[in-house]
Amino acid sequence: MGSLARFSVAMDEDLLARFDDLVARRGSAVNRSEAVRDLVRDALVDAEWEDSSEDIVGTVTMVFDHHASDLSDKLDSLQHAHHEHIISSMHVHLDAHNCLEVIVVKGTSAQVRAIADGLLGTKGVKHGKLVSTTAGRHL
Ligand code: NI
Repeated sequence: MGSLARFSVAMDEDLLARFDDLVARRGSAVNRSEAVRDLVRDALVDAEWEDSSEDIVGTVTMVFDHHASDLSDKLDSLQHAHHEHIISSMHVHLDAHNCLEVIVVKGTSAQVRAIADGLLGTKGVKHGKLVSTTAGRHL
């Protein structure tokens, strides 16, 4: 990290009050400055994701019923088909029926989105989400 630069921001009072409420909910370890830095980092990650030529990384989290017909096999086949982009996966048996899987995918944003869409769009996946992040060259 470089040296800290200070700058002032003009903001509508109502908007600032709502922002302060949000900061307060995140606990005493977070102050306005840290919250603003987080927002800037999020925006930089999003910008990196929009440039589809850059390698990025994402996690696909999904919950599914392993009793659903050949669903586990379909999800496994999809992952094998994209083995060069799937870095790691974790499987948790949540209860007698439900499984949780967290899969780390690396590639261009277009590749990562396509793989995530394939997994999350498989019939029988109850809930899931792609979280985008980056190795942080620009953070
Ligand atoms: Ni399981």
